Parts: sequence; structure tokens; C-alpha cells
Amino acid sequence: MVMANSCAPHSIEKYSQIPYLTQGMLPAFNMSCSEMIAKWEGMVFQKASCELDVWPYLQTLSSEAISRTAFGSSYEEGRLIFELQTAQAELAAQAAQSLYIPGSRWKFSLFRVLSVVTMVLLSKYPDWQVRAREEVFHVFGNNKPDFEGLNHLKIVNMIFCEVLRLYPPAVALGRTIYEETKVGEMCLPAGVLLSLSLMVLQQDTELWGDDAKEFKPERFSEGVSKATKGQVSYCPFGWVPRICIGQNFAMLEAKMALAMILRRFSFTLSPSYAHAPHTVITLQPQYGAHVMLQKL
Ligand code: HEM
Repeated sequence: MVMANSCAPHSIEKYSQIPYLTQGMLPAFNMSCSEMIAKWEGMVFQKASCELDVWPYLQTLSSEAISRTAFGSSYEEGRLIFELQTAQAELAAQAAQSLYIPGSRWKFSLFRVLSVVTMVLLSKYPDWQVRAREEVFHVFGNNKPDFEGLNHLKIVNMIFCEVLRLYPPAVALGRTIYEETKVGEMCLPAGVLLSLSLMVLQQDTELWGDDAKEFKPERFSEGVSKATKGQVSYCPFGWVPRICIGQNFAMLEAKMALAMILRRFSFTLSPSYAHAPHTVITLQPQYGAHVMLQKL
């Protein structure tokens, strides 16, 4: 069995059936990607390039794919649920007035964050965009991206690992201390709420070196454990025992979407793009993600 995601430091035995479930969801996801790309092609049609805020499209993409998978032909119903959840996330964030740790109902929005940040970073680093596109053409040619092929995208995987390091969509892990606990030199009394910022951890210069804040996917060329030198310094999907069970699904979706986009378009940042990540339950681009799309 091929594991779908080598950004993940662990796999869990009890969830071993999940890659098979994930594989079964690919056709629905492929259909939703194709629809999104057809819309973009319509916009770029007869123009050298077109400015587009990709954020709302990627938001729709994941809700449609999940709705198709979960609700089948009545997927409009599923879409409505996602719209209500988005509104609920805004209200919860307002109520908390601060960082809030995602619960299971927010999980699907994390994929959108991963995709949009990847598009922004590949716009800023065109050399990596070219390398990823070459790999996608090499692995799939003009065939539909499939499960096996997606698992063999090494450059694309390195890029996603680096995106997840710099911009972890779930910005922090939260824990409640139920009984007095000693952590290193610290004694934490019962009742304390702990929040571990993944961004701080994953950009720590002591753990990652002086170039910790730079986008360098080559760090992951020999996998996660080599990049972290065996330390617990990278956990975009959390850590045992509560590690994300949707990580393979999320990575596969993100790879499929990126592969399909890279085959049709090249993209650069639009002059109207404003870099303003903020947190509404998860990390999000506050003013959208405006890119200039060129049809290949
Ligand atoms: C890029 C996408 C995703 C990211 C970055 C992500 C991240 C995370 C993180 C950091 C945790 C640990 C939370 C904690 O320890 O408090 C987690 C847990 C979890 N995730 Fe994800 N997730 C993603 C996508 C998904 C998807 C698509 C699903 C569902 C199919 C999912 C289902 C879950 C569940 C059920 C847990 C709780 C596991 C447990 O408590 O045993 N996640 N995720």
C-alpha cells in the first residue's frame, strides 16, 4: 500500500482503511476541479492573461467536492451546509476575539487554505512553479491525475511540506491541563489552557536554521524526518495521539487541484494582491488571493 502523504510524520494503524476511502473520493474531486478550471479557462479565453481572485474558487472547490462525495446527487444541500459553516466560523471567531482551535467541522476549510497559500507562494517563486509543472507533465502527460501518480509527485510534495511549515492552516494546537503536569522545568496546574503556535514552532531558527523564514522546499528533499533531524519541530497535522485523520485526503485533494491547475495555467501575483494572512478559526488571506492567470 502506498501512503498518500509523505508530509505526515506518522501514520496510525487504526486508520489504515482511510487511504482506500480517500482513493474512492478522487473522481468527485476531479469533477469539481475540472469545473473550476473550465470557469477559469472561460475567463482567460481570448486574452493573454486575466486577473483573478482564486480564493473564492478554491473555497467553492472543496465544499463542492465534499458535497458530491457525501451527498451524491443532492450536493446542493451539502453546499448550503458549508455556507452556513463559514458564517458560523466568522461568528465563533468574533465571539472568541482571539485564536480558536479548530474542531472537526472546520477541517475541510484547511484544505482551501493550503491550496490558496501554495498558489500565492508559487506565484512568488516561479522557479518552483516551473519545476512542479514539469513534474506534473512528466508523471501524467495529458492523462487524468490518478491515485498512484499523485503519490509519486516528489517536487509537489516538497512544495506542500514547505507551505505547511511556513503557513500551517491550523495555526495552533490547544490543550487543557486536567491534572497538575510537569513539562521540562515547568509545572502546569490543572485548569491551564495551553496553546502551541505551530507557526512559531515551525519557523524557529534554533530548530530550522537561520533561513527558517524562507521558502525553501529543498529542505524536504529527503523527507520530513531528515528535514527535522528527528525532532518534534514539524506538526502541521498535529501529533499523536490526536494526529489528523484527514491528512491523506487533504494532501491528495491539494495535489490533484494543483496538478490540474499547473497543466492549464501559469500564474504570477497580481499588483493588487495584498499579503494579509489573518485567522478566522483557520489562517486565511484577508483580502483574497489575486493572481494573474496565463493560459499555457
Ligand atoms: C490541510 C488540511 C488539514 C490540516 C492542516 C489539518 C490539521 C489538523 C491538526 C493540526 C489536527 C490536530 C488537532 C489537535 O491536536 O488538537 C487535526 C486533527 C483532526 N483532523 Fe485534520 N487537518 C486537515 C484536514 C482534515 C480533513 C480533510 C479531515 C477530515 C476528512 C480532518 C479530520 C481531522 C480529525 C477528525 C481530527 C481529530 C483527530 C483526533 O482527535 O483523534 N482533517 N487536523
